[in-house]
Amino acid sequence: MSQSLATASYLGATILFILCLGGLSNQETARRGNIYGIVGMAIAVLATIFGPEVGSSGYGWIIAAMVVGASVGLYAARTVQMTQMPELVALMHSMVGLAAMWVGFANYIDPVVAAKLHGAEKTIHDLEIYIGILIGAVTFSGSVVAFGKLSGKISGNPLLLPGRHFINLFGLLVVIYFGGQFLDVESISNGMMCLIVMTIIALAFGVHMVMAIGGADMPVVVSMLNSYSGWAAAATGFMLSNDLLIVTGALVGSSGAILSYIMCAAMNRHFLSVIAGGFGTTGGTPAAAAGGAQPAGEVVPILAPETAELLRDAKNVIIIPGYGMAVAQAQHTVYEITRFLRDKGVNVRFGIHPVAGRMPGHMNVLLAEAKVPYDIVMEMDELNDDFPKTDVAMVIGANDIVNPGAQDDPSSPIAGMPVLEAWKAKTSIVMKRSMASGYAGVDNPLFYKENNRMLFGDAKKMLDEVLLALKG
Ligand code: TAP
Repeated sequence: MSQSLATASYLGATILFILCLGGLSNQETARRGNIYGIVGMAIAVLATIFGPEVGSSGYGWIIAAMVVGASVGLYAARTVQMTQMPELVALMHSMVGLAAMWVGFANYIDPVVAAKLHGAEKTIHDLEIYIGILIGAVTFSGSVVAFGKLSGKISGNPLLLPGRHFINLFGLLVVIYFGGQFLDVESISNGMMCLIVMTIIALAFGVHMVMAIGGADMPVVVSMLNSYSGWAAAATGFMLSNDLLIVTGALVGSSGAILSYIMCAAMNRHFLSVIAGGFGTTGGTPAAAAGGAQPAGEVVPILAPETAELLRDAKNVIIIPGYGMAVAQAQHTVYEITRFLRDKGVNVRFGIHPVAGRMPGHMNVLLAEAKVPYDIVMEMDELNDDFPKTDVAMVIGANDIVNPGAQDDPSSPIAGMPVLEAWKAKTSIVMKRSMASGYAGVDNPLFYKENNRMLFGDAKKMLDEVLLALKG
């Protein structure tokens, strides 16, 4: 393939990636957006393989790597449970970081590249390598820790080392010092020494940064690492002088940064205070482990037939899905109930909190999979004012996102986070298995409200019973 055809293909792929991102911003166009992305990626891969940079002697290696990579990817995509998606995404981010690191090292010791570059050009290239490996290493180790936290293999508690900001600052100064040395060294072995020291510090920084972030801030971490993986890819593009990789990396990096901003706004947090860490503690504990006033009172349990009765008598219902709906895979039964109620003239809508579940858009994906119509799936801000006019607010496997303590209790670890005001409905029904707290590890005063009922049990099982009672 000639250089001009490869450049034209790259341009086409770039346009398709931009259309893909545009499409993904809306549920109705998301499928089309995905197709644009797939076609763009296919063009990009083919134009790279058959482009002027790759000689025919490299095809064997490329095909072997693609077979291994595609087999692992295919296996992971087919076997992963929907609830494991956030962990899989974190692992994939770590792969981008790892790739950036290896490309950086390989590029530095490549004699062909070294022979071509002199003077200022070499300095710029070395700087690209140094920064590329730095971003790659932080992304890699940070994403591995995020994987551990999201899968519950590592505790959600923030690790707050004494003097942690000074440790980070010291690490940064050492990285800058070795960066200066790296640009000055004459021999590859001395340069490698600088790179290795910096890589070790960057890996440790990635671990420390994510370990220090508390459970409640994990949504920002997920989107932040998404952004880092984009910048790591862009850095790889600079190292390999590949324009498409630079543009694609920048697109992912900037969209991830925008997502981080949206997540921060959704949680009423400043990005810097998230990075500083320590907000929210471990999830799944039965008590208010994270501090804040302990809610008092009794909870009122309810059974499926009574729930069905309340729903049957309601005119307006708001369903609030959370992580538990994903765990129970209850979305299809939720849809069945929604369809049944809508057929009976009940106004059913869904309230989606921006950080519900364990990854951005988690609930939207599940509801779309169950074919819930998009026009009844609303964002938190769109229907928070409607709760006082709502007969039943049905909370399915959600917890932190409906915690009134975020508004009323300044000592709560999630104080200030906007939440769905389910308790303002005439009756709220919380569907979960026990009194355990959610991901942020905070007890929930909603459970003790007078107008709240607790439907204890697995969400899918309980909803099946509710559907049966409704139909019966
Ligand atoms: P959570 O606050 O985590 O609450 C989920 C609830 O679901 C739990 O209290 C659990 O209670 C219940 N549950 C679990 N399995 C269930 C099942 N099979 N059937 C019924 N209930 C079940 O979830 P949320 O309200 O969606 O809030 C999300 C939280 O995750 C926030 O703190 C957010 O910051 C954090 N987070 C979000 C993201 C993103 S990007 N969305 C990423 C990382 C972390 P039981 O054990 O009693 O059943």
